[in-house]
Amino acid sequence: MRVVLLTGKGGVGKTSLAAATAVRAARRGARTLVVSTDPAHSLADALGQAVGGEPTAVADGLLAQQIDARAHLEAHWRRIQDYLVGVLSGGGVSELEAEELALLPGLEEVFALLEVRQRVAEGGHDLIVVDCAPTAETLRLLSLPQALGRYLDHLAPLSRAWGQVVRPLRAAGESAPPPPGAAVLAALDELRDSLEQARALLADPERTSLRLVVNPERVVLAEGRRLLGQLTLLGYPVDAVVANRVLPAGSPDPLVAAWQARQDEALAELGDDVAGAPLLVAPQQAAEPVGVPALAELADALYGTRDERAVLHRGAALRVEACGRGWELRLPLPGVERDEVAVHRTGDELLVRVGATTRAVLLPAALRRGEVAGARLEGGELRVRVAPPDAAPQGAQAGAL
Ligand SMILES: Nc1ncnc2c1ncn2[C@@H]1O[C@H](COP(=O)(O)OP(=O)(O)OP(=O)(O)O)[C@@H](O)[C@H]1O
Ligand SMILES: [Mg+2]
Repeated sequence: MRVVLLTGKGGVGKTSLAAATAVRAARRGARTLVVSTDPAHSLADALGQAVGGEPTAVADGLLAQQIDARAHLEAHWRRIQDYLVGVLSGGGVSELEAEELALLPGLEEVFALLEVRQRVAEGGHDLIVVDCAPTAETLRLLSLPQALGRYLDHLAPLSRAWGQVVRPLRAAGESAPPPPGAAVLAALDELRDSLEQARALLADPERTSLRLVVNPERVVLAEGRRLLGQLTLLGYPVDAVVANRVLPAGSPDPLVAAWQARQDEALAELGDDVAGAPLLVAPQQAAEPVGVPALAELADALYGTRDERAVLHRGAALRVEACGRGWELRLPLPGVERDEVAVHRTGDELLVRVGATTRAVLLPAALRRGEVAGARLEGGELRVRVAPPDAAPQGAQAGAL
């Protein structure tokens, strides 16, 4: 079973191309499920038929589902939220504010993602195509498992230590919030496990392909390039960039010809591939691609002889190379410009920031006593030089992270 996730800026064609990819896969014999995490009912619009909150048959071998993220949020987060609200309101925050504070932004999308993981775990499909929400939410959605995992890591031991700190206070007659019960701790543990599994699924290039959809316009491409860098930074494997709504060459209409020339220029800047990921082209259709036949036609034009289910490109992973007496940590960052990257060392971690996205890279044991001696961007990679500490034994070491 594989997961193909279509992402990109708002309105570029994610839903249409997700539906098209799913229709083509089903026609070619794969048991396929297409899901949307978008609360608007756009998947139903693209397929031209109703799609429910549970997988619904929409064509031969094709199921579609509109994930009800709110319901998942209620099921998984309610217990934790109630507890946090109790603690916060005990601390003088109004109940309404506490409710808001206990709802982390982007949480709904994360629960939609947990549903995808659940569907993968249940099996029964050869392919699950995911239509992802627009750029900002998608990034948040994708980085949240890591961020939330770290947040929960801090919260759980704190909660366990609660009794030791709070009980004496209560005995002394001070008002203090109640300790989290076993049910809250169990809910936290379960949530952390589910998040880690969802993150692992999305970050595994053998199981998941992310495809970045763009339109052949300068502004959209620039944003697409940034998103590609951020996704790569977070370790999510982008195996293709899809240029959607590409106009045909040689139109007799001067307006169409002018637009087409602009698109050509923008695409030429991009090249045939983006840091190795192939550039696929989906042509502008004469009408909105709605319904199974129209989606099949669009998908055939997009994939041609390619297998829509296959891994279309395998990017390089984070690695360590020997470099003189020290090491060089190499992190692929395709399409990222120098002024967009910042590197910062804290303890055993290297914090790498691209735009608003930060990834904490745990330094391999051998490098931890070393000193960060410099960083540069070269060949689509961030290369961080780590010099050995003076007392370190001679000879460089290399290894995978
Ligand atoms: N290749 C194409 N040719 C013609 N129309 C297209 C093509 N691709 C998408 N469209 C149309 O463009 C509009 C936006 O497409 P779509 O809804 O798939 O984008 P989206 O990225 O999912 O948008 P949102 O970010 O709002 O979810 C729709 O009306 C769709 O039918
Ligand atoms: Mg959409």
